[in-house]
Amino acid sequence: MATSFPLQPLEIMAKNHAILATTGFLILLPVGVLVARYARTFTPVWFPVHFVVQLFLSGPVIFAAWYYGWKTSNVLGLGHFLDPHQKMGLALLILYVLQLLLGLFTHYIKLRSPFGPGTRSPQNYFHVFLGLVILILAAEQVHYGLYIEWAFATGGLHVVPMAAKRTWIALIVIFWVLYLAGLALVPRQFAQEKRARHGTPTKSDEIGLQNNHSGDVQSA
Ligand code: HEM
Ligand code: HEM
Repeated sequence: MATSFPLQPLEIMAKNHAILATTGFLILLPVGVLVARYARTFTPVWFPVHFVVQLFLSGPVIFAAWYYGWKTSNVLGLGHFLDPHQKMGLALLILYVLQLLLGLFTHYIKLRSPFGPGTRSPQNYFHVFLGLVILILAAEQVHYGLYIEWAFATGGLHVVPMAAKRTWIALIVIFWVLYLAGLALVPRQFAQEKRARHGTPTKSDEIGLQNNHSGDVQSA
């Protein structure tokens, strides 16, 4: 049922939650991932940018989203972390915090890699894997919010606009097309890492950029 009267305060709260959560998980985090994917073989600046986007830009937006979601559940008297959207919301927040800690750990604490000197440790691979898992789960969470949770929680007084649903699919398609295309840089990345392991100067050395010996050239 589509109505023309304005959104009620509770709906505004839920809408704020939805917009902030979508912005944090489906725009800002993917931007931070694409910065890593595209920039890492060209400049070491990819790391501070990735760090700032994932922690200082995404963090406040994600926690503000949580605040509005929690408040909406409170006003509705639904309890917390009971239905699938609430449970997955909690899981995503925990995974996000774990991923931040893992990213910091990966960067600041270099473990000896079982794959040989100068190669990436399992923690690095796990950070990449978990990052992509978070984005997949968040895509499903926003879909569930748009198609199920909104109507369930607000009673369907106002329907979710088609534009919001189209935005969802557009964000997913744009990110994955760009990310998969960015994998074309993996051979270049591995070649740089190999050269760094053998102490051969890389193009980036020539232009004055720094490498380190962590196994992720131009990185962390
Ligand atoms: C990645 C995106 C999202 C995350 C991580 C997320 C997470 C959450 C969390 C943690 C809560 C509070 C749960 C609680 O207090 O037990 C919540 C509530 C809620 N969310 Fe989301 N959400 C997301 C996207 C959306 C979207 C896109 C919509 C709607 C279009 C939506 C609609 C709601 C509503 C209506 C509530 C309050 C009712 C309830 O507690 O079930 N969410 N969400
Ligand atoms: C304090 C925050 C963070 C730090 C310090 C950090 C650090 C790093 C480091 C060191 C790498 C390189 C790993 C390697 O390939 O060797 C990396 C890549 C990556 N990070 Fe983070 N990260 C942070 C937050 C996040 C978050 C929240 C996500 C969640 C989406 C994320 C997703 C990724 C992905 C997917 C890659 C791999 C990109 C690619 O090359 O394909 N990171 N990050």
